[in-house]
Amino acid sequence: MIHSKILGVGSYLPEKILTNADLEKIVNTTDEWIVERTGISERRIAGEDETSATLGYKAASQALKKAEISANEIDMIIVATCTSDRFFPSTACLLQDKLSINRNIPAFDITAACSGFVYALVIAEQFIRGGIHKNILVVGTEVLSRGLDWTDRNTCVLFGDGAGAIILQASSEPGILSADLYAQGKYKEILSLPSFEILATENSQKQLLLPHLAMNGKEVFKLASKFVEEAIVETLAKNKLTHKDIDWIIPHQANERIMYAISKKLNISFDKFVSTIKYHGNTSAASIPLALDQFIDEGKIKPGHLILLEGFGGGMTWGSILIKY
Ligand code: UT7
Repeated sequence: MIHSKILGVGSYLPEKILTNADLEKIVNTTDEWIVERTGISERRIAGEDETSATLGYKAASQALKKAEISANEIDMIIVATCTSDRFFPSTACLLQDKLSINRNIPAFDITAACSGFVYALVIAEQFIRGGIHKNILVVGTEVLSRGLDWTDRNTCVLFGDGAGAIILQASSEPGILSADLYAQGKYKEILSLPSFEILATENSQKQLLLPHLAMNGKEVFKLASKFVEEAIVETLAKNKLTHKDIDWIIPHQANERIMYAISKKLNISFDKFVSTIKYHGNTSAASIPLALDQFIDEGKIKPGHLILLEGFGGGMTWGSILIKY
């Protein structure tokens, strides 16, 4: 049987830092409120010349370097993003060009909002299992700062920009041990970033408006905690493990209070939860690979560790992957 292993991880954050103190000058908020309700102190904001493709390119280049393979050894590119540079070509095609990959390989984007990276990794694993693809570049990259209403304190304080990338390689040893993806479209209105739908309204003036992310934070909080709790229990049960066997849980970085709630409900030590939200904010599909890369770089995540990746986001979508790093 063909398995998948993580060969290299990379990430990139834009240089510009937006602190909570900066936000106090933009909307009616306080550092105290943001830290207490979310755990976020600062986030990065893409510069004028930066897009999802440029951030993704930097993360991918670093992942390739760490994996010690060349771009032309990549035989598929999957990009998870909800802030693609263009509706088409896909950010994956833009990345293929930036990476000067001359081979005719498949490259495509997937959209599952903040669960995007988990979805993309599962898709990549399936292709590797199929036996044709050997080195797949999986990228989560977002510039959600451009999809925010900067007068809405309910949302603009939460998000940041960034990118993370993984090289997934075919292996005889299992790296991805199990994976489950879920979605429930009936929750479509509680977290949404509209697109062409706007153009279908009678009010043609709306065509001039850029879409903004809208969220019912309380509902998302409640459902995200519930779905991730259920997914963790399910993944552990089907792998005949308990949480004591797990070294790290990397949840999508949306709110540290969601992590606390899950830790408390499942009686799992909070020390096992990887949290990078303080300095990254919510970077949507980039949050999990960014957190993974940081903890590997800091020597906290080590080869052989068992790690649960837990994505959740608009859709609603969610998913759980158990990996042996
Ligand atoms: O990646 C996508 C997934 N997204 C998430 O997982 C987000 C999940 N939800 C959350 O993280 C939380 O619901 C929020 C952080 C968004 C909000 O926290 P909350 O504890 O649910 O606050 P709330 O929305 O109930 O608001 C409480 C109060 C309100 O004032 P009143 O009505 O009590 O007077 C808000 O108007 O806090 C007010 N508020 C703020 N105050 C200062 C909302 N945003 C702010 C703000 N600064 N930035």
